[in-house]
Amino acid sequence: MPIIIANLKMQLGVGETVDLVKKINQGLEKENIKGEVVVCPSFVALAPASEYLKESGSKIQLGAQDVFWEDKGAFTGEVSPLQLKELGVKYVIVGHSERRENLKEDDKIVHEETKACLHDNLIPIICVGEKFSDRQENSHYLKVMTQVTRALGGLSLVEDQKVIIAYEPVWVIGTGQAIAPQDAQEMHQVIRQSLIDLWHDSKLVKNNFRIIYGGSVDSKNVKSFLDQPNIDGALVGGASLNAEEFVAIIRAASL
Ligand code: PGA
Repeated sequence: MPIIIANLKMQLGVGETVDLVKKINQGLEKENIKGEVVVCPSFVALAPASEYLKESGSKIQLGAQDVFWEDKGAFTGEVSPLQLKELGVKYVIVGHSERRENLKEDDKIVHEETKACLHDNLIPIICVGEKFSDRQENSHYLKVMTQVTRALGGLSLVEDQKVIIAYEPVWVIGTGQAIAPQDAQEMHQVIRQSLIDLWHDSKLVKNNFRIIYGGSVDSKNVKSFLDQPNIDGALVGGASLNAEEFVAIIRAASL
């Protein structure tokens, strides 16, 4: 079953977020769609979204868009894994390209955040992806392999710890123009091989990791990505802000 994750970014107010989550949940219930769905609101909207999901007995799971790497302490403005867990958060987006770009998050920070997620039993959604210039220079595979290796190198996994890698070519995010599914498939194959090289254990990679695609996914193209053998789900930005469209994505994904 593919996993479909909504990254709401900083697009909505708190009330708007709860409204959207409500509409998505009601849309799924009405049509009895059984997908594995995660919604990642801003920090400030996590508590009310969590409350609604609990009260309604929804199957939608909650994710955060970032996390700090310490559980507690003098870290002004940061949010810890334990605080997220208290709100019922299960997933955390780590190293999104918008944070790498705007907040200068580097591979070391991505590694620390990933480690913190694993330590506190949260599922990291580790974002990797090349810029257009990397593709022009034909260094896109190397770039993504390096990001994967630096995020996870030296970390150990407990048996049932899940990890998601989200491959998002930076140059198609928010453009409405996704890359060709075959190109995504090739990169996913490279990522899977990097994981096998890291752990020397293809069974562990198969059981613990999911590799998903992100970048201008919508209800029309989602299936063409999920039909590829190495693509296990989708990370959706813009198209997740409209409940009908997001439900249509989940419907298409679960066919
Ligand atoms: P997009 O964003 O679907 O709007 O391209 C995806 C993302 O940034 O995760």
